[in-house]
Amino acid sequence: MISDLWYKNAVIYCLSVETFMDANGDGVGDFEGLSRRLDYLHGLGVTAVWLMPFQASPQRDDGYDVSDYYAVDPRYGTLGDFVAFTHAAKQRGMRVLIDLVVNHTSIDHPWFQEARRDPGSKYRDWYVWSKKKPKNANEGMVFPGVQKTTWTYDDVAGAYYFHRFYDHQPDLDTSNPAVQAEILKIMGFWIQLGVSGFRMDAVPFVIGTKGADVTTPTEQFEMLRTFREFMQWRQGDSIVLAEANVLPETDMDYFGRDGDRMHMMFNFQVNQNLFYALASADTGPLIKAMKATKPRPATAQWGQFLRNHDELDLGRLEEDQRRAVFAAFGPETHMQLYDRGIRRRLAPMLGGDQRRLELAYSLQFTLPGTPVIRYGDEIGMGDDLDLPERNCARTPMQWSAEPNGGFTKSDKPVLPVISGGPWGYEHVNAATQRRDPESLLNWTERIIRMRKEVPEIGWGDFAVITSRDPAVLIVRYDWRDNAVLFVHNFADTPREIAFATGVPGEHGRRLVDLLGDDHLECDEDGKHRLVVEAYGYRWYRVGGLDYLLRRDEIDLAAVRVSGGRSKDRSAGRRSR
Ligand code: GLC
Repeated sequence: MISDLWYKNAVIYCLSVETFMDANGDGVGDFEGLSRRLDYLHGLGVTAVWLMPFQASPQRDDGYDVSDYYAVDPRYGTLGDFVAFTHAAKQRGMRVLIDLVVNHTSIDHPWFQEARRDPGSKYRDWYVWSKKKPKNANEGMVFPGVQKTTWTYDDVAGAYYFHRFYDHQPDLDTSNPAVQAEILKIMGFWIQLGVSGFRMDAVPFVIGTKGADVTTPTEQFEMLRTFREFMQWRQGDSIVLAEANVLPETDMDYFGRDGDRMHMMFNFQVNQNLFYALASADTGPLIKAMKATKPRPATAQWGQFLRNHDELDLGRLEEDQRRAVFAAFGPETHMQLYDRGIRRRLAPMLGGDQRRLELAYSLQFTLPGTPVIRYGDEIGMGDDLDLPERNCARTPMQWSAEPNGGFTKSDKPVLPVISGGPWGYEHVNAATQRRDPESLLNWTERIIRMRKEVPEIGWGDFAVITSRDPAVLIVRYDWRDNAVLFVHNFADTPREIAFATGVPGEHGRRLVDLLGDDHLECDEDGKHRLVVEAYGYRWYRVGGLDYLLRRDEIDLAAVRVSGGRSKDRSAGRRSR
C-alpha cells in the first residue's frame, strides 16, 4: 500500500519541548505539557512531530550539546514521561521523530571527560586529537564571527581537540567502529521507546573524515547505509531525515542510488531560492533549484521547509541574489548572522502580511516533497532580536492572551515570551486565532487538510508549466492517472496569465479549484486564462473531478528498494 512509505506525504511539525508547553509551572516546557497539546497538533493535521534535542545537556547550544544520549534532561521530565508521550502520539496516529546529534558530544559528556584525563581510556580514540596545532585550525568554522577556531587546546589532555562547531562540542571520531556501534545503540534505544526515526544533525560532518591532516574531508557514504540497515532491521518503517546542506550533484550520494541511504533530506537548495523568489518575484532560480533536485530514488523524499530553528542560510545563492534577500528580509545587521544568513522568523520577514504568508505556505505545501513546519509559524509568531544568535526565533509558543502567553504559570520563562508590539502574545496567540475563521491558524488547518487530499505531490512526478511571466510559478504533478496543478503569483500586483495544462490531448479539460470557486474552463486555443491577484495562489485538480481517484496499490518498485537491499537500478531511478 502507498501508505507504507508514510513519509512520502507526511506533515512534519518541529518543536522544542523546552519552549512548547510548561505543565509543572517551573518556567521550562516539559513532556507533560507537550502531551497535553497533542490534540492541538492532531487537530491542525500534523502527522509527525520532530522533537529537537531533549536529552541531558548543559544547554550551551540549545541541547545540540548532549551529555547523556540515554537520558531525558530532567528539566523536561523523565523517560517515563517520554514514553507516555510517544504512546499518546501513537494513539492519535501521529509519529515521532527525534534529533540525533552524533557528530559531537558536549564537552561535559563523561566520554570526553574520561578521554581528556586518561590517554589509555577507551574513549580517547572516540575524539579527534592533535599534539600540535593543525595548520588549518582557523578554517571551516560553522559559526563564523562567534566561533574562532576548529581546534582548541585542552590543558588536561595536553592536546588539541577538533570541533566543527563551538569549542564546547568536541567532534566524535565517527570513523572509529566503536563510535559507529554506539551510534547504532543510541538509535536502537530510542526506537525501542517508540520513535519512528531521526532528524540526523550535520550529516556531511558525521560522515566526513576528521583529523589534523585532513584538509578536504572525504565523505564515507557507506556509513549511511549501515545506519539505515540497522534501523530498518530493528523497525521496518523508521526513517532518517538528514540535515545536509549539500550541492545537488551529491544528493544521490546521500539518498543512495539504490535508495539505500537517507530516506529524506531537507531541501536547502530550494529553500534558499524560494526566499529569493519571495524577495524578487523572479521564479527562475527557484525553478532551476527544483529541477536540479528532481532526481531522487523511488523511496526517497525531500523535506521542504521555510524557516527552521537556525538562521536562514543563504550561503548557496549568488552574491547579488543574497544581497536582494538581505535587502528585502533582513536589511539591518542585527537581523543577520554568521555572514550568510538571516535569523528572523518568517512572519516578521514578510511584514506580517497574511497574503504573503499564505503564498509562502501554499508554496511550501505544494513543492515536491513533504512539508516540515515549525512551531509557532502556524500563528505567525515573531522574533525577539534582543536575544543572542539563533535564540531570537526560539521563544516560547504563544498559546493565549494569558500572562506569558499561557506557556507557563511561572513568571520566569526559560526564554522571554514575546510581549507587546505587533508580535506580542497579547495579539498573536493560538486561542484568539482559533476563534477567527480567517486566521492564519485556521487557514493552515484547512490547507493541511487539502494537502492530504493531493498525494500526487508526494508520489508524483512534477513538471513546471510556462506562464511566460517570471513572477508566476505553475507546477503540475501526475500520479496514476490523477493530476493536480498549482499556480503561485510572487508579485505584488495582479497578473494575467494564459497557459496550457502541459499534456497533449488534454485540451478542453476543466481545472477544478480545490480551495475556492474559481474553476477554469479551457479556451478554444487550448489555453486556460486566469487573473491571479497580488501574492495569489490556486490549487487545481486537472480534468474536471474535484476528488482524487485514489489508487492505493502495492508498488513493487518501492517495495524492492525500500529495504535497501535491491540492486535493481532501474527501480531506483524511477520516481513517483
Ligand atoms: C545543526 C543544528 C544547529 C546546531 C548544530 C550543532 O546545524 O541545526 O542548531 O547548533 O547542528 O549541533
